[in-house]
Amino acid sequence: MEADNDIQTTPRGFHCKLCDVTIPNKPSLEDHVRGKKHEHLCRLRAKRKSQEENSVFVSGFRAATSRTELEEYFEHFGPVTEVIMDKERGVYAIVEFAEAGGTQSALTQLEHSLHGLKLRVKPRERKEFKLTGRGKHDPKKAQVGMGKLSYELCQAGSVNEQMQKVVETFQLSEGDRKARELLVQLLQEVFSEFLPDCQIIPFGSSVNTFGVHGCDLDLVLDLENTKAFQCRARTSDQTGEDRSEDGRSEDSILSDIDLASASAAELLDLVAAILRKCVPGVHKVQCVSTARLPLVKFNYRPLALQGDITINNRLAVRNTRFLQLCSALDSRVRPLVYTVRFWAKQKQLAGNPFGGGPLLNNYALTLLVVFYLQSVEPPVLPTVEKLRGMACEEEVCVIDGWDCTFPSQPFSVPPSKNTDDLCTLLFGFFRFYSKFDFPSVVVSLRETCALPIADFVGDEEMPDEPEGCVAKLRPSAGPKLGPVTILDPFELQHNVAGNLSERTHRSLRHELTEAEKYCRSLQFQRKSAKGKSWGLVRLFTPHGEAAAAACDAPYRHLEICIPFRAASLPDGHRTDPSEGGDACRTVWFGRLCSVVELVFRDVLKCTPVEGHARLDPSEAGQGATVEEAVEGQSVEGCSPQVSAHAGVKRPLSVDEGPSSSPQGKRQRLDPWAEHPESVHWSWAQTHPVWAGRRKVRKDLLKMSDEASQPEGGSSTLESRVTQHIMEKQANPRDLLEFSVDGTVVGVGESMKAVIKFCPTNDVSGHFQDFFHFLESFLPKMVETMLAKLE
Ligand code: UTP
Repeated sequence: MEADNDIQTTPRGFHCKLCDVTIPNKPSLEDHVRGKKHEHLCRLRAKRKSQEENSVFVSGFRAATSRTELEEYFEHFGPVTEVIMDKERGVYAIVEFAEAGGTQSALTQLEHSLHGLKLRVKPRERKEFKLTGRGKHDPKKAQVGMGKLSYELCQAGSVNEQMQKVVETFQLSEGDRKARELLVQLLQEVFSEFLPDCQIIPFGSSVNTFGVHGCDLDLVLDLENTKAFQCRARTSDQTGEDRSEDGRSEDSILSDIDLASASAAELLDLVAAILRKCVPGVHKVQCVSTARLPLVKFNYRPLALQGDITINNRLAVRNTRFLQLCSALDSRVRPLVYTVRFWAKQKQLAGNPFGGGPLLNNYALTLLVVFYLQSVEPPVLPTVEKLRGMACEEEVCVIDGWDCTFPSQPFSVPPSKNTDDLCTLLFGFFRFYSKFDFPSVVVSLRETCALPIADFVGDEEMPDEPEGCVAKLRPSAGPKLGPVTILDPFELQHNVAGNLSERTHRSLRHELTEAEKYCRSLQFQRKSAKGKSWGLVRLFTPHGEAAAAACDAPYRHLEICIPFRAASLPDGHRTDPSEGGDACRTVWFGRLCSVVELVFRDVLKCTPVEGHARLDPSEAGQGATVEEAVEGQSVEGCSPQVSAHAGVKRPLSVDEGPSSSPQGKRQRLDPWAEHPESVHWSWAQTHPVWAGRRKVRKDLLKMSDEASQPEGGSSTLESRVTQHIMEKQANPRDLLEFSVDGTVVGVGESMKAVIKFCPTNDVSGHFQDFFHFLESFLPKMVETMLAKLE
């Protein structure tokens, strides 16, 4: 049965899920299933399954109970092969019997006791970490409000639960992943038209099990088979034979370029041209030939996501498979990686604009977690060298001369004997790296320990190859050394943290030490009885925010964070990554503020109140509709109180505002021209515009026969929804007044706009409902409108 499920029929023949290979036809499939690799993996899978079925989970014994005592007790039910103890706390154990009979006898006995204590004996659950997200697909759900997350984390019962919550909150939903798969299919179809036999392969966070909402879609365009196709086609042309064997000929694009000798820039131009001209929904296509691996960036409007295409980058596809394997080997890997990644983002240690910059990238952070999990005692994950030894002959894989061998299936690797819980491992991570002497050692996932950096200094060659290495294994030069050196597990010449500045290294050490200190405190480990923040909430306090303010009153701030998205910058500001810093910050925040104002003023029909710079509608473009403002690529009547310098608010008076043009006419205000660092608005809302929106939207769509739109998907529709709700209530009353303060914090990709709300008049107590609605509505609406600004 299981064997039947292993084989899938595909348009190209068959795919064996067990061995992860594509097989072109039935006879080869028959050979494959009789082959060594398939049989070996089938046997291993059966072995792991029986190990799991033959084990029981035991708890309730005294902390001092030894392994032998447990073994002796359970021998009464059948021969015991192994007892794995929870090392740190001695509160549970896994007992493995030689046969299923032992498990059954132990489980059927109603009561167990040892040294006078009642034991709990349960079937062993192998918790597969579910990849599926909860909830419906919402491609635009890219933001997670920190306020809401803090609240939910505070409600959890333990740090372990909090870490699981972090995964649930950020992971890609099933719908997100399906939508990405469809986009990959679309690209595959289009590119195959022009580049026969090419392959579009996703890698990175979309597929490595560590993806978050809205993360980039990294793709490799593999042209190896196309090269072979072109070569065959050319040979048959020269020999005068009829076309290529499969009847296809080089089409116009292929006849213009020789794939074997084309430069990287030529290939990128070709990819960019296909994307621009032939893929519907793609825009903002840009070649980045200066990156370590040249790439083409693009935006895909229907999913509001950014994609990157590199060419023939097989190592990245392979290291993605490696991360997938690590994730599948132990269910603790994902929560740990998600937690560390979010911590690093909050502390501004990770996330570089446009992939370049002085911070850690997510790949490097993930490798740090994997290295730590290889280094704990007993290890949670095996080293790359050990994994290599567990692979069978058919799994040997060499790419560009680098040995990339590891087993294709998790069950080829014996389960870890480490029983630490997530909380212990997280604390351990900070303890391990706070004492780690980054400048003197090289983090290498191949070995069991960090290597002295002296082995790499001034040495053109790498240190000795481990025995049995099958491929190159000797890089002509060592990796680029830096304050932090993390060797890629396969491309041993590449320091994945080679871009890190000395300053980031100092911050990293500081934050690791602070985190380690905090993890030792009771606030970390114990839920606060007084409703104060605890556990991960404090750990996630953003860099630079006064800890007390952010921590002791987690619900005090009603704030919505809107993270930076390079895709929402105008083209000209995305061309030079080195300008990513201040220029991006001011341009992006300026655009965002303009759009936020439009959402309140025109979409939600709030009215400015005293203290809010009022503009004469005839002069300031109050008459302009949202669509005019957005589609016309300018925003008029933008009237917040604006400060040109961070933190200092300067009311923008009517005289200074856009209406004060010498001509006394409407003036186009480029939304990004002001470059504000903070803004302030005061608004009043007279109607409960948040109540019943979904139904009104549905009714309006039905009446007009328009295509269905998700919440926040169209500013025109949302304005009409608001209008409709307002019209239904003839006598408006002053429902509530509130102030809104926006600031931009962070740098690079971890930059975000923090929009804080404060009810200034809320006698009828509606503000909480309004804010709750804004938490999901505002980020989506802002993103939709930003995407329309060119
Ligand atoms: P990222 O650092 O972007 O990681 O590298 P990510 O997991 O995709 O995280 P996001 O996109 O920031 O959410 C993307 C992929 O690029 C390859 C790896 O395959 C990685 O998963 N990569 C990255 C390298 O091979 N080497 C590097 O130095 C960096």
